[in-house]
Amino acid sequence: MPEPDAEAPTNGLSDDTYEVQTNGEPRKTNGTIPQSDYNIPLNKEYAYTPRKLKVITIGAGFSGLIIAHKFQHRYPEMQAYVHHTILEGHSELGGTWLVNTYPLKAFPFDPNPDWSRFYSSGAEIQQYILRTARKWNLDRDVKLNHWVKELRWLEDRGQWRVTIENDGRRWEEYADVVLSGQGVLVHHKWPQIPGLHDFEGHLTHSANWEHEYDYSNKRIAVIGNGSSGIQIVPQMQKLPGTQVTNFMRGPTWVYYRVPPSKHLGQETDDPNPDYTDEERRRWREDPAELKKYRKGMIHRTNKAFKMVHYQSSALRTIDN
Ligand SMILES: Cc1cc2nc3c(=O)[nH]c(=O)nc-3n(C[C@H](O)[C@H](O)[C@H](O)COP(=O)(O)OP(=O)(O)OC[C@H]3O[C@@H](n4cnc5c(N)ncnc54)[C@H](O)[C@@H]3O)c2cc1C
Ligand SMILES: NC(=O)c1ccc[n+]([C@@H]2O[C@H](COP(=O)([O-])OP(=O)(O)OC[C@H]3O[C@@H](n4cnc5c(N)ncnc54)[C@H](OP(=O)(O)O)[C@@H]3O)[C@@H](O)[C@H]2O)c1
Repeated sequence: MPEPDAEAPTNGLSDDTYEVQTNGEPRKTNGTIPQSDYNIPLNKEYAYTPRKLKVITIGAGFSGLIIAHKFQHRYPEMQAYVHHTILEGHSELGGTWLVNTYPLKAFPFDPNPDWSRFYSSGAEIQQYILRTARKWNLDRDVKLNHWVKELRWLEDRGQWRVTIENDGRRWEEYADVVLSGQGVLVHHKWPQIPGLHDFEGHLTHSANWEHEYDYSNKRIAVIGNGSSGIQIVPQMQKLPGTQVTNFMRGPTWVYYRVPPSKHLGQETDDPNPDYTDEERRRWREDPAELKKYRKGMIHRTNKAFKMVHYQSSALRTIDN
């Protein structure tokens, strides 16, 4: 091999082009490659030079931030191999919990002993996401307001071409791996109802709730009886002077909900009890106790799903 030039790039080879001759020795060609069937262009990097895998994750909701935690904390050795970027279209972290702010209601690696009540509000969940992401530096690789507009696998390059849009500007980046944490519920959709958008009253969507509007003393129609509709109707009913009609075209199926009293181990008729200072103190001081409470809740909730097993005894109980 020729001696590297004094001003050679970091890998020690100059920008000159070399041709491998039939005797195996490289011959300097000063940038012009003679026509020959035996030309083998030499790479400027030595063989086996380590290269970081470029990973792009789409979305900085729970999923994207959990991926960040895995790369940074769960498997910190990955930082030597992976260059990670999270592209988030919105202007803040949180995903579902950033956009769904209508009036209603954990990261496994940082359970929260300080929830205010059994079913926390969306705003409280969003605060928890922001607090935890900053505590663990999970926003380090996040680029906000960066929408992924197109993904195309380039067979010849062996990479994804990622078309990104930010502030009206579009460009392309390439990634070895693309992880989708883009969720499914973050883009809201209006129902197909002719004339809906000609309605001259106030029109709001649960995923884009207008908080400034005063909903009291109004006749309110809530379309739909999914999870959102179910949570919105009682809140609207509670407001002074409202007359609420819920339009539903089919029944809502609600599976057995283990009452909070069973999880908390104490009698309460409150469907959404506040946690006491004493409970929060216990969980803060004893993470094992908090874990036991969380695991118990998950176990009792999952057990209820037995009723949807075909021919299960739980299902037969309901049938009868
Ligand atoms: C109103 C509501 C209540 C819910 N309640 C519960 C509950 O009580 N318990 C529960 O477990 N689950 C609940 N869910 C489900 C909830 O969506 C998940 O729990 C979880 O938050 C999903 O997280 P995610 O990161 O996978 O997706 P998301 O939270 O949807 O985050 C996806 C992110 O990707 C970004 N993104 C998407 N496309 C692109 C793109 N092309 N370019 C750049 N960025 C992009 C979005 O901006 C968003 O920030 C609820 C969902 C809704 C809508
Ligand atoms: N865990 C929670 O606290 C929580 C809270 C909110 C949302 N979520 C989740 O978020 C997701 C979205 O929930 P969502 O309730 O917003 O939406 P959804 O589940 O899609 O429900 C939409 C509702 O609107 C009805 N609808 C649609 N078009 C209609 C029309 N033209 N006329 C009358 N009714 C119409 C649907 O009726 P049909 O059923 O007949 O289509 C359905 O009842 C779900 O996965 C849900 O689990 C969870």
